Amino acid sequence: MNVHLANKQIVAKLLVALSVLFVMSCGGSGTVTDTAPGAGYEIGAAQGESVDRYSVRLSGAQVLPVVDTRHTGQAEFTIHEQTGQLFGTVVTSLENVSAVHLHEGGAGEAGSVVVSLIASVTGAGNTIFNVPADFVLTDQQMQLYTSGNLYVDIHAGDIALRGQLSAELPALAIGAELDDLQAKLFTPVCSGCHTGSGGSLPAIMDLSSADASYNTLVGVFSIGEPDLLRVSAGDAEESLLIRKFEGTQTIGARMPFRGAKLDADTITAVRQWINSGARR
Ligand code: HEC
Repeated sequence: MNVHLANKQIVAKLLVALSVLFVMSCGGSGTVTDTAPGAGYEIGAAQGESVDRYSVRLSGAQVLPVVDTRHTGQAEFTIHEQTGQLFGTVVTSLENVSAVHLHEGGAGEAGSVVVSLIASVTGAGNTIFNVPADFVLTDQQMQLYTSGNLYVDIHAGDIALRGQLSAELPALAIGAELDDLQAKLFTPVCSGCHTGSGGSLPAIMDLSSADASYNTLVGVFSIGEPDLLRVSAGDAEESLLIRKFEGTQTIGARMPFRGAKLDADTITAVRQWINSGARR
């Protein structure tokens, strides 16, 4: 192994260590970090070869069919673009994990296993899995990697979590009614922070079940922007929820907090639910 490759490994390990700290510091739930840009990437580029990197959030919402669980996982993958060597770490709050796999397959597709990840450390309520040392992707798998056509999944009893190695969040195919929004959006993406078990934001706003979400959103004034309802039934544009998704709020952060912006179809589904009366 040459010195250059050794340096790459150190960088990759540092990135992984940092991301593990990040995941633990916010309870391992509900965060999505930005991903490496896929554009302009060239395999075998002569100068300044880059390590292509993905930060992946795993949820029940990406499993086929959808699994309703508040558990999440976080993964980091990097590739050495000339050797195809793959580095990857998956962290999850799930217990009794039976398997963690990297698969071939685009968003919404199932495909064959590329490699099984190995459990390495258990502690602080999180289990960490790694790609085996010296695992190398084939040329064909490298193309799938860079085009967003690999995914990682976790199996634990009846529960499964899945995340796409992609620079874009996959569309969730959400229907404009509360039960669907709950199963595919509020439970997997929001309820890790909006738990209902605390006296201030975010915990005080309980998004952990459809009944709780209805009670805390519809017709309830915001704490951050007290002139605005969180959800104003029939009027999505006057609802803080939509402004928090679009990033047009005047107080606080865009939601999901510290996460990638929700895809347009998901925001449209929430808009339609509100505009058609925000019914339970
Ligand atoms: C990582 C933690 C985290 C996640 C995940 C998260 N939030 Fe938040 N949320 C916060 C924090 C912290 C605040 C308070 C600060 C602010 O308003 O920006 C907040 C505030 C809000 C508010 C404003 C409430 C008020 O009364 O002013 C709304 C609405 C909201 N979140 C909706 C959501 C939704 C919907 C999701 C999921 C798509 C989500 N959040 C995901 C942490 C989170």
